[in-house]
Amino acid sequence: MNEQTMTPGERAANLKGMGSSRKRVEDVRFTQGKGNYVDDIKLDGMLFGAFVRSPYAHARVVNVNKEAALAVPGVVAVLTAEDLAPLGLHWMPTLAGDKQMVLADGKVLFQGQEVAYVVAENRYIAADAAELVEVDYEELPVLTDPFEALKSDVVLREDLAGQTEGAHGPRKHHNHIFTWEQGDKDATEAVLGEADVVAEEMVYYHRTHPCPLETCGCVASMDKVTGKLTLYGTFQAPHAIRTVVSLISGLAEHNIRVISPDIGGGFGNKVGAYAGYVCSVVASIVTGQPVKWVENRMENLMSTAFARDYWMQGKIAATKDGKITGLWCHTTADHGGFDACADPTKFPAGFMNICTGSYDIPTAYLAVDGVYTNKAPGGVAYRCSFRVTEAAYFIERMIEVLAIKLNMDAAELRRINFIRKDQFPYQSALGWEYDSGDYHTAWDKALKAVDYEGLRAEQAQRIEDFKAGRTRKLLGVGLTHFTEIVGAGPVKNCDILGLGMFDSCEIRIHPTGSAIARLGTISQGQGHATTFAQIIASEIGLPADDITLEEGDTDTAPYGLGTYGSRSTPVAGAATAMAARKIRAKAQMIAAYLLEVHDDDVEWDVDRFSVKGAPERFKTMKEIAFAAYNQAIPGLEPGLEAVSYYDPPNMTYPFGAYICVMEIDVDTGEWEVRQFYALDDCGTRINPMIIEGQVHGGVTEALAIAMGQEIAYDEMGNVKTGTLMDFFLPTAWETPNYTTDHTVTPSPHHPIGAKGVGESPNVGGVPAFSNAVHDAFRPFGLVQSHMPHDHWRIWKIANGLGMHG
Ligand code: CDP
Repeated sequence: MNEQTMTPGERAANLKGMGSSRKRVEDVRFTQGKGNYVDDIKLDGMLFGAFVRSPYAHARVVNVNKEAALAVPGVVAVLTAEDLAPLGLHWMPTLAGDKQMVLADGKVLFQGQEVAYVVAENRYIAADAAELVEVDYEELPVLTDPFEALKSDVVLREDLAGQTEGAHGPRKHHNHIFTWEQGDKDATEAVLGEADVVAEEMVYYHRTHPCPLETCGCVASMDKVTGKLTLYGTFQAPHAIRTVVSLISGLAEHNIRVISPDIGGGFGNKVGAYAGYVCSVVASIVTGQPVKWVENRMENLMSTAFARDYWMQGKIAATKDGKITGLWCHTTADHGGFDACADPTKFPAGFMNICTGSYDIPTAYLAVDGVYTNKAPGGVAYRCSFRVTEAAYFIERMIEVLAIKLNMDAAELRRINFIRKDQFPYQSALGWEYDSGDYHTAWDKALKAVDYEGLRAEQAQRIEDFKAGRTRKLLGVGLTHFTEIVGAGPVKNCDILGLGMFDSCEIRIHPTGSAIARLGTISQGQGHATTFAQIIASEIGLPADDITLEEGDTDTAPYGLGTYGSRSTPVAGAATAMAARKIRAKAQMIAAYLLEVHDDDVEWDVDRFSVKGAPERFKTMKEIAFAAYNQAIPGLEPGLEAVSYYDPPNMTYPFGAYICVMEIDVDTGEWEVRQFYALDDCGTRINPMIIEGQVHGGVTEALAIAMGQEIAYDEMGNVKTGTLMDFFLPTAWETPNYTTDHTVTPSPHHPIGAKGVGESPNVGGVPAFSNAVHDAFRPFGLVQSHMPHDHWRIWKIANGLGMHG
């Protein structure tokens, strides 16, 4: 096509910029087996590490005998805490201000805890030799229940004995970590005392696990000649890992290169620092050879960062016609043996204080108590922004519980309490400023799309049929309206280990009009290479196909805080737009010079600058790029590149309306999702196809969590769900069809109006599935039951309600 004759619309389409469902550029290599994951990295002389792990959840480690393991041909070293202690590396700092044993130092606190690290010539020898390490344990009483732990005389963290002050304030008991309070306690209690109606319930969000298909791993390679450490790994935040490695190892940061290659899913599991990283680095420094460590599935499920495990006691107050007047929540948070939650420093319970949800609740109070137990550490934002899923589940259950108490339709109860469009920006009672929203429009669209009234009529008929013995199947309609909070975050509020949560993008335009962009984030399947190129394409008028995107190499990418909590689009996406705008500003000057007019006399037109009033006189971005490298332009440096470090003024608040229609067989406990409708509003949509993919993936994970997935322990602290035979991971067989929909309410402070989306479907999906189960049994008297709603638990609900005769 001819640049002179193409219409602006044709030129814009040619760019495949924002709004286009551009196909994922990553998939060419992934679908052809050309991905490059950590386990694909093979270096000369590479050794392998394997852990000896504790079979006990709480025990004293009396002795570790390495002799038999060291005698195995091919074993190079066996590390224990004693070996790491002289280096000060037997403990490491956690992201939550606590510290964690790298290798068992005198005792173990959870099943699967790392006790010794065997380094050998290959993986098989390392695994065999790990079996030969003899560890003498002396069993100690096990505490798996956080309420019991707070009453028990058993001291889990002996290293903290006598310490009454923790990283987040006073500790009330030797197994207590912190209390975090938000909102107005007195005012909320006064509202509860005076209210027409108060509904009260314990809402438990069980312990689960992000379970990415690729487990965690790394390759540490210390070059003794150059003094440079290269660390490849499954890191969601490579720069932060570089800084942490520098701080705890004493190696200068410029001598550390961290590379996140392709990552097979993260979902929060790959944010924190694990013992495997520290041991591999030490082993490589000691041996002078590269050392690889890759977990197996059981290790991943048993020892790396779990999610949730929040006991949320709630009270919600309302007038008799359903206007909510107050919300009270006390959460008991089970953090396991160490407090290794991945939250911004000032938020020990993450953004749990978004628990007023989508509702205009004038008075609220939240308190969270963190507790040590004999479980694995590391509560992470499993595909959500720092405890937002817990918060959304809590409020969406409390709304349902209140609807029962008021004998009201839950859709109507939501509608009369939504924050109205004209109230944005909205200041919540628990401290957040919601940037934008139009909840009523989304809600009405959702209810209409599923024919809500028709569904309720069908449900009423079903209840009649059930009572008359004509069917054994119930129908549940699960409603959810959620508000997310993503894009951590303003540096003044949010840091991780003191690192402010900005993000970055550097763009270099090549002379021939193609470009490379490097970001501080790292895709784990979200398709950044596809979508961030689209932002640049729209901003500077070069085709997305001509823009390479690179992430994950700390030697080349500008410093960034990484990808988790749907922060990439709100923060790095904004940095990308801002860097592109710097380029466009310089391009304007170059164009004006080339066109021999004043800078103010040219205007931007899709992919070019043209002279105002004379659109036939123009310079395309491609021509401008070439001129930047081949013309001496007075007052301008040669070249065309820019970098932006973006500190967002606020977080973004995506929202959505999800509705699940579920059939439940009361005799078998089996469920079937008949319909799932997901309306998401993530502001300006960069790539609708990728958004749809994100929603499909996130709702499927929500299905897993709500309907079966859990990390369960027995009373001895044994993990009962340590394999994929027991830990529910849906396949195509269990995954229903989804209908996706959207509204668009741009973020007023984001340069392109975009909000995050990756996590919304998990945040909104879980309550939608769970509410469908509850709704099916509501007419028969069920108020609250705990997830996961597997067949056995559903059968038990039916049995408890006397449905089995
Ligand atoms: O931080 P993370 O990449 O996990 O989440 P995200 O920022 O929500 O983005 C997930 C994917 O959806 C990325 O490829 C985004 O560019 C894309 N996205 C989009 O196309 N439009 C939006 N408004 C938000 C995200």
